[in-house]
Order: sequence, then C-alpha cells, then structure tokens
Amino acid sequence: MMKIFMTGASGFLGSHTAELLHDKGHEIQALVRATSQTEHLKKRKIPLVLGALPHCENFAKSLEGQDVIIHIAAVVKALSQKDFLYHNHLSTQNLVKTILSLKKKPQKFIHISTIAVHDPSQSKDFCQPPEQCQPLSHYGESKMQAERSLEPLKDEMTVTILRPPVLYGERDWELFPLIQSVQKGLTPIWGKGDKQFSMCYVKDVAEAIATLVESPSCDSEIFCLDDGAEHSWRSVALEIGKVIGKEPRLIALPSFAFTLAAGLNQTWAQLRRRPHVFTLNKLKEMKQARWICGHQKLANHFKWEPSTSLKEGLQNTLEYYRAIGKLSA
Ligand SMILES: NC(=O)c1ccc[n+]([C@@H]2O[C@H](COP(=O)([O-])OP(=O)(O)OC[C@H]3O[C@@H](n4cnc5c(N)ncnc54)[C@H](OP(=O)(O)O)[C@@H]3O)[C@@H](O)[C@H]2O)c1
Repeated sequence: MMKIFMTGASGFLGSHTAELLHDKGHEIQALVRATSQTEHLKKRKIPLVLGALPHCENFAKSLEGQDVIIHIAAVVKALSQKDFLYHNHLSTQNLVKTILSLKKKPQKFIHISTIAVHDPSQSKDFCQPPEQCQPLSHYGESKMQAERSLEPLKDEMTVTILRPPVLYGERDWELFPLIQSVQKGLTPIWGKGDKQFSMCYVKDVAEAIATLVESPSCDSEIFCLDDGAEHSWRSVALEIGKVIGKEPRLIALPSFAFTLAAGLNQTWAQLRRRPHVFTLNKLKEMKQARWICGHQKLANHFKWEPSTSLKEGLQNTLEYYRAIGKLSA
C-alpha cells in the first residue's frame, strides 16, 4: 500500500485513476478546488485536500510524508497562452519547489504530460527529452515547459513522465460531438479524414499509472502509450457507427472550412469568456498527418500493455452517455 497525493483527481483521467488506485488499496489524498466535481471521489470516501495550483503553500503540509505524487492537473483549453502557462507551467514549477522544501520527500513523482509537447513532423521519437521538443500549440508549449521544470526533482526521486495521446472514455466530452454527429447521420470530416493519430482508453491509462506507482523506483524516464492501433477521423467515425448500429454519412470539408469554424469558435469562446479546445492555435496540431506514438518503451520497462480496443472502449463510453441520458438508445 502506497501513500499517494494526486492533483487533477476530479477530472476525466484523474477520477478514473483515483478510483483504480483506491480500489487497489492505496491511501490517496486528492487535491480539489472549491468548484471541482467531487462526487466520484466522495463515493469512495477518498480524502479531499482543498487548494488550487499554483498556490501550493496552502496544501504543502499534505505533501509531507507521501510515497508518491501524481500530478495530473492541467488545463487542456484556455483563453490565452498566458492562461495555459499559468495553469500548466507555473503550477508545476511551484509544486516542484514545494516538494523540494519538504522534510520527507516522496520516492516518486509521476507527471502526466501529453504527446502535444512534440512536433511529429520533426521527429518520430515521441519520448524525446523536453529540451528537444518543439511544440506546435500554446497547450503543448505550456506542457513542455512543465516537463522542463521537473528537472530539479530528479536528484531526489524517480520522476516519470507519461505522455498520453487522445484519450476517450466515460466522463470525457471531447469526443462527444463526433459521436452525436454520427448518431444524427451527418459527420463532417477534414478532407479524406485520413490524418492518423494514436488514442488510448482512459481506464488503460489509469492502469498504466497504477503500474508506475506499484513498480520499484527506477531511473527517471519519459514514456508514451496508446491502444496499439492507428486511427483516423474516418476510421473512428466508422467504428462509432458500428457501435451505434448506424452507418455514418461522412461529409468531406476542405481545410479552409475547419479554419473558419475554428476562428468562429475561438471568437465565440472569447466573447463568452469560456475556453474551447477547438481554436486556430489547436489547428496547428490537427493539420499534422501523423500523431502515432506507440507504447513499446513502456511495455519494455514495465510490461504494461493496453487491454481495450477502440470498439470495446467506445461501447463502454456510449453506454455511459446513454446511462446519464445524454445519448438516445
Ligand atoms: N484528455 C486527453 O485527451 C488528454 C490527452 C493527453 C494528455 N492529457 C493530460 O491528462 C491530464 C488530465 O486531463 P483531463 O482530460 O483529465 O482534463 P480535465 O478533465 O480537464 O481535468 C483536469 C484536472 O485538473 C484540475 N486542475 C486544472 N487546473 C487546476 C488548478 N489550477 N489547480 C488545481 N487543479 C486544477 C481540474 O480541477 P477541476 O475539477 O477543479 O477543474 C481537473 O481535476 C492533463 O495533464 C492533460 O494535459 C489529456
């Protein structure tokens, strides 16, 4: 049994990870904000620590004496580059400083990053060190800066960086518009919809994090992971169609239509002061032909393998949307 402090445990990936680690018998404390959705954590009676990054001084004493710290908190959408840097880079930097000031430091720090720290047109090595990464988006830049700020921890503990690709599963809402479009019978796709990318089912990522927690401490390393398949928007839409039992009608749109949509979306988000993931800046990532990261290094080091195919993962996800009344049967 490990004593674990988690950030981001109220979010999509964090809630699945917290549930799994709790069910495996670990003693978890979860950092949450006053506005966080905590029902999943409360259901399992996971102790909550109230606080917000980057203000680590408010919860520093809860970090004392932990075996492992899992840092999942981040924003995946923001209104400006400054906001991304504040929530992702400054938060991580302050967390690192606070950990270094502890009397009893943890043995491990597990940092959830993203493959978006990387420019896939420059290198095929998705596990390259952050110093060599050239992110395309403000989000990627802030996560790369966060990775760089972990450096001082490495003299004191194992620092493992996990870079997931596109995640999906129960409690995710980013894939939902695509699922809705398939159900409604009209799915716009970018050109031929053949740009390739990796994906991973959220519970498999939670399993990977649990594997990192439970493995003996080792050298600090960077890992990617995926479900072992290569996907495209066309193949994902077709798979959703199979699960729903409805063949999707794919409408090929030229890239300027996506640029226009992203521009309008971004303006609307700014006017409402509510960030949205689909922006002109995000398009720089979406334009790339190939975001295939693999999971071989993780499999070699820790024997972790993905266990959920896209079909199974989508079945679980759609079942969840139906159960909460967001999708008709
Ligand atoms: N989803 C993906 O496809 C994907 C892909 C690759 C990597 N990732 C990475 O995976 C991690 C989790 O992503 P997610 O999709 O689960 O995001 P999410 O659902 O938006 O969850 C983000 C979590 O971070 C917390 N958080 C954000 N800013 C915070 C702050 N200033 N102080 C304290 N807590 C803060 C949120 O708290 P509240 O509940 O209070 O908002 C929430 O618990 C992130 O590090 C992300 O970069 C995600």
